[in-house]
Amino acid sequence: PLPAPFRVPLPVPVIAKPTRTDGAADYYDLAQRAADLEILPGLTTRIRGYDGSFPGPTIQARSGRRTVVRVSNGLDAPTVTHLHGGHTPPESDGYPTDLVQPGTRRDHTFPLDQRAATLWYHDHRMDYTGPQVWNGLAGFFLVGDAEEEALPLPAGERDIPLMICDRSFAADGSMHYPGFADRPGVREPYMGGVLGDVILVNGAPWPELRVARARYRLRLLNASNARAYELSLSPGGTIVQIGSDGGLLTAPKPLSRLRLAPAERADVIVDFSAHRVGDHVELRNLAGEGPQARVMRFLVDRAEKDDSAIPRTLSVVERLDPAKARMTRDFEFTSGSLHGGTGWLINGRPYAPGRIEARPRLGDVEIWRLTSDVAHPVHLHLAHFQVLSVNGERQAGPPEWKDTVELRDAQTVEIITRFTGYRGRYVMHCHNLEHEDMAMMADFEVV
Ligand code: C2O
Ligand code: CU
Repeated sequence: PLPAPFRVPLPVPVIAKPTRTDGAADYYDLAQRAADLEILPGLTTRIRGYDGSFPGPTIQARSGRRTVVRVSNGLDAPTVTHLHGGHTPPESDGYPTDLVQPGTRRDHTFPLDQRAATLWYHDHRMDYTGPQVWNGLAGFFLVGDAEEEALPLPAGERDIPLMICDRSFAADGSMHYPGFADRPGVREPYMGGVLGDVILVNGAPWPELRVARARYRLRLLNASNARAYELSLSPGGTIVQIGSDGGLLTAPKPLSRLRLAPAERADVIVDFSAHRVGDHVELRNLAGEGPQARVMRFLVDRAEKDDSAIPRTLSVVERLDPAKARMTRDFEFTSGSLHGGTGWLINGRPYAPGRIEARPRLGDVEIWRLTSDVAHPVHLHLAHFQVLSVNGERQAGPPEWKDTVELRDAQTVEIITRFTGYRGRYVMHCHNLEHEDMAMMADFEVV
């Protein structure tokens, strides 16, 4: 039986403290280890997470301030950590075969030469990302900057990261991942990816958050392996989106529903001042049914002064000009044969580390045309991009920076990006983690 909803208070992940800080950088230590947590009331669940927590500690970093994260592997399997959305030199980017063996550690250097944004870190081990993220290896990494701090947005206690992910549990509370002990990932029965029947927010099942009659900034992250959400408020209300994967939008976007594919983020403002003390507001998932249609609940329990506002202009976002693109490349995301069975391929080929599928030049603007058979949330490392067109239709509206875009069934999505910062080898892949583990990944090298 599933636990009753809205019985558990929303946990907020701890903020990591730097172990030291000097003129050059802030230094953090994260220890990957197993821990027994009470996720479902009355039961114990063994997770494998950063610092033994799930989600891991939140790293609060600053644009332009070098951040060095030492990850120590105290687990019984190799790992590799990627900062999702990070503009990171290749040696620190968590390339899928840059494994950190049990009992060893690696320093990741993040120059953070990028704007404020809600990023996250997670495991990226080739063929095993699905199970290792499922078991707990994921956390928030927030980048702040002066531009954002100058805005009167809700802050402090009213700026809350929400990591949404689904999981399944066995009757004894253990996390159930339907993989095989002796070989990576999952196979045909889970071609669509692994779905859970319990919706967790910050590691708690259908939690409740007590809020004041005030505006809140919620940093939504879909950290699910394969589930996409269509979030909306019940009994109604507006979700005002202010940020995307790559930071602030140019202007707030009022929405009645918000779709979030795996790995996507949306920073939103929800104003609870329209409600009375004692009111409940539910965050629902219109893409789910029954228990999976619920996400969490807010209980408005007090009145409080609120000085925040949503400015009409948030930021200036440069629009990349397709006329400046040096070339267009095509990538097809489809199923195909893999190890004598079926897997997920890019341009008909399963992932092979080191085989470079594209060599963009540093500083160049390129258009990448992505085509799907079924839905695939496609993610590029290093390069944030803008969506140019969907099925040939030019995207209206102001430009926004993305690092993950969901291709729906049989779609062609054109994205435009500029390769800046670092030369070297990176990956792009489907962020349905089972698709990624079933080989839907490719290397590109910035030259
Ligand atoms: Cu969120 Cu390549 O990953
Ligand atoms: Cu996919």
